[in-house]
Amino acid sequence: MRDAEAFRLRWLGRKQGRLKLISEAWLKSGPTDARKPLGIRFNQLKQQIEEVLTSVSLRIQKVLEGEERVDITLPGGVRAPGIPHPLLKTMNEIVAVFHHLGYSTALGPQVESDFYNFEALNFPPNHPARDTQDTLVLADQQAKPSRDRLLMRTHTSPVQIRSMIACAPPIRIVVPGKVHRNDAADATHSPVFHQVEGLCVDTNITFSDLKGTLDHAMKALFGSSVKTRFFPSFFPFTEPSADVQISCIFCSGAGCRKCKQSGWIELLGCGMVDPTVFASVTEARRKLNPADDAYNPAKITGFAFGMGVERIAMVQHGISDIGHFYSGDMRFLEQFA
Ligand code: PHE
Repeated sequence: MRDAEAFRLRWLGRKQGRLKLISEAWLKSGPTDARKPLGIRFNQLKQQIEEVLTSVSLRIQKVLEGEERVDITLPGGVRAPGIPHPLLKTMNEIVAVFHHLGYSTALGPQVESDFYNFEALNFPPNHPARDTQDTLVLADQQAKPSRDRLLMRTHTSPVQIRSMIACAPPIRIVVPGKVHRNDAADATHSPVFHQVEGLCVDTNITFSDLKGTLDHAMKALFGSSVKTRFFPSFFPFTEPSADVQISCIFCSGAGCRKCKQSGWIELLGCGMVDPTVFASVTEARRKLNPADDAYNPAKITGFAFGMGVERIAMVQHGISDIGHFYSGDMRFLEQFA
């Protein structure tokens, strides 16, 4: 009752009501030819306010007279709480595993320069290794030197370079984020997807540290009974490089359709940071401090890894089409509530 009166005063009050103010500020001082349409709008507004007030006071009267009761025992309107998207959930899970090992999170831009995305990672201009990452480039970049041209990052690895230029070792970071490739969408590819990168640089970091770290991470994500296997591979910025496979979680290694009868599922790429990467980092750091020697490969070593979040989430939940993640179909999403 009191609220209804306050509402009436606020809008229709003779002295301070909003309608009075509006009429003074706009209607009375408005140009003559605008007065008619303004007047019509003004009257519509006034009518609306009066209608609301009448219907409210009618209901109040009914409630007071006992004609209409508010049944406070009726259940309220239930609004389902939101849930993290399954991809975000997996990404956060991966990041949390590494946070527990003392890693911190680093982020970088999705629009990246050729230098960070390729050159500093030992993909020289025109080198065929670039063909493995079909790149979406920004328009009108031809006038710039090759290393300054902008593109959509094809992986999260450029954040390795950014982090090393910014900070001396020791470094232990994970980099979650979106990456872009000029790939046609199919059941396992999407032009925009997500990766989590890892980088560890310190004194005496060896390949066994890499193996132990990733074996632990895979067990944390897929259960302690999974085995890991490191398969020789190639990335320009790691040497040696490996693909990490886990024993098939669907058939425990016996061979099934999901693992193409091999018993193993390939999940991520990794390797020891190539000394040429440390050389690019040192060159960039020396522009700021000519005496910099923080990334001298005679003193430090490191490992890096990169995993596709969609791929891991698909294996975790047995999802066979990557498109489900982006469809917004509630029947899919509700299964993760
Ligand atoms: N950046 C690589 C890719 O997207 C993955 C990777 C990261 C490999 C770090 C080795 C080390 O394919």
